[in-house]
Amino acid sequence: RNLPPLVFHWFPIIGSTITYGIDPFKFLFDCQAKYGDVFTFILLGRKVTVYLGAKGNQFILNAKLKDVNAEEIYSVLTTPVFGKDVIYDVPNAKFMEQKKFIKFGLTAAALRSYVPLMQDEFHSFIKSNPQFKGASGIVQLPPIMAEITLFTTARTLQGKEVRQQLNTTYAKLYHDLDDAFQPINFMLPWLPLPRNRRRDIGQRKMTQLYTDIIQARRAGATEKDSEDMIWNLMQCSYKDETPLPDTEIAHMMIGLLMAGQHSTSAASAWIMLHLAAQPETLEELHQEQLRALGGSTTAELTYDHLQNLPLAKHVIQETLRLHPSIHSIMRKVKNPLPVPGTEWVIPPSHVLLAAPATMGKSDAFFPKAELWDPHRWEHIADPHESEKETMDYGYGLVSTGADSTYLPFGAGRHRCIGEQFAYLQLTIVVSMMVRYFKLGNVKRKGVVETDYSSLFARPMEPAYVRWEKREE
Ligand code: HEM
Repeated sequence: RNLPPLVFHWFPIIGSTITYGIDPFKFLFDCQAKYGDVFTFILLGRKVTVYLGAKGNQFILNAKLKDVNAEEIYSVLTTPVFGKDVIYDVPNAKFMEQKKFIKFGLTAAALRSYVPLMQDEFHSFIKSNPQFKGASGIVQLPPIMAEITLFTTARTLQGKEVRQQLNTTYAKLYHDLDDAFQPINFMLPWLPLPRNRRRDIGQRKMTQLYTDIIQARRAGATEKDSEDMIWNLMQCSYKDETPLPDTEIAHMMIGLLMAGQHSTSAASAWIMLHLAAQPETLEELHQEQLRALGGSTTAELTYDHLQNLPLAKHVIQETLRLHPSIHSIMRKVKNPLPVPGTEWVIPPSHVLLAAPATMGKSDAFFPKAELWDPHRWEHIADPHESEKETMDYGYGLVSTGADSTYLPFGAGRHRCIGEQFAYLQLTIVVSMMVRYFKLGNVKRKGVVETDYSSLFARPMEPAYVRWEKREE
C-alpha cells in the first residue's frame, strides 16, 4: 500500500536487472510510458525507485542529507579501489571538506597552467604513436582517446612524477584498479576473483607510489613546475587543523583519476565519432580554430582562446546531452519519503534512482532529440542560467538548479567538481584533433551503439575511423 507501481518481472531476484543493464534508457522510457515518472523495479534483488523528470531530479538530487545517502550505495565499489578514509568511505561532512580541498586545486590559475602542458602531451602523443605514422590510416578510436585523456591528466592534475611513470609501473597499477571498477562489484566486491585480488594489491602499491611522491616532495627532491593537485592537497588541513594525511592525499588522487578518466575519455571518443560521421562540422571547428588563432595553423592555444570557441563548447554540450557518461545516479533512502502530490511513500528499504539524462534524450525538451546537432545550442539559453539557485554544502556555492533539462554534471551536494577541468581538457583535445586531422567513417553510417556494460556508458567497440593528416 502507498508504494509506487512495481515494474512487472518474471523472476524474483533478477527482476529487471537484464533489461535495465542492456539499455537503461530504453528500459526507463518504456517504464515511464507504462507507469509514469515514478516506479520501482528490481535490480539484483534490490528495490530501486525511479523518479524521472525535473521534479524527480529535485526530489533526489536535492534531498536532505538525513533522508538520502550516496556513500551507502557507492562505497562498496569505490573504497576498495580508491582506498580508505576518503570520498564515500567517510561521513558526508568530511567528504564535503575534502571536496573543498579539491576545489582549491582547480582554480582558474591552476587550469591556466595546464593549457600548454596538455598541448605538449598531445603533440608528443601523436608524433610518437606508430598508429599515426604516414599521411592517412584507420584507427580504433576509443582506446586512442582514452590514452590521450590519461596522458593529459597525468601531466597536469596528477603531476609530473605520475606522468614519468605512466609508461611503466603506473599504467599496470591503473589497469588493475580499473578492471575492478565494474557494476558487478556493487553487489559482490569481495568475490575471491583474480581480478579483485589484483585490485587489492594494486590499490596498496598505488597508494605507496603516491606517498613516495609526496614524501620526496616534502624532502625538497622535486621542483615545483605547475599547480598540480598533489601540491595543493599537501597544504590542506581539516577544520580541526589536522593536516590531510599522506595516505588520504594518495587515495583522493586515485579517486580523482577514476572519476575523471572514463567520463572524459568516453565524451571525447563520442565527439570524434560524431565528427567522423559529420565531417562538415569538423571543418567548421577547424575554421573556428583558425579564426581564434588569427589564421595560424601552428600557434599554441592559450587559456583565453579557450573561452572563445563557441562551437567547440556546443559540440561538447551536445555530446554530453546525447551520451551522458553517468546514466543513473543512486541514493539509499534513510527515512520514509512521501512523494508530493501523490499517495506514495518511498520506504527506507528502497534505493532512489535519478536519471536526469532522460530529459536530454526526450523530444519534448530537445526537438529531434536523437540528432547530434551542436548548432541547436545557439538557440538555447546557457544551461547554467537555470542553475542560478545555489547552496553552500561546505565547499563553496553549488548549483541546486535541478529543474534544468540538462544536468550532465548532476546537481546539489554531490554535483561534479571536475566540470571545468573536463571542459578544459575536452576543448583542448577537440581543438588539437581538428587541427591535426580530417576524419571520416570507414563503412558505417552514423555512430556506433552505446556499450552500457561498464560503469560509465561508452562507445561500443570496435569503432574505427579513417584519419588523414592536414598539411602542416
Ligand atoms: C560527481 C559527471 C568529470 C570528479 C559527478 C556527478 C556526475 C558527474 C553526474 C554526480 C554523481 C552523483 O550525484 O552521484 C561527470 C562528467 C564528467 C566528469 C560527465 C566529464 C565529462 C570529472 C572529473 C573529475 C570529476 C574530470 C575530477 C577531476 C567528480 C567528483 C564528484 C563528481 C569528485 C563528486 C561526487 C560526490 O560528491 O558524491 N560527476 N564528471 N568528474 N565528479 Fe564528475
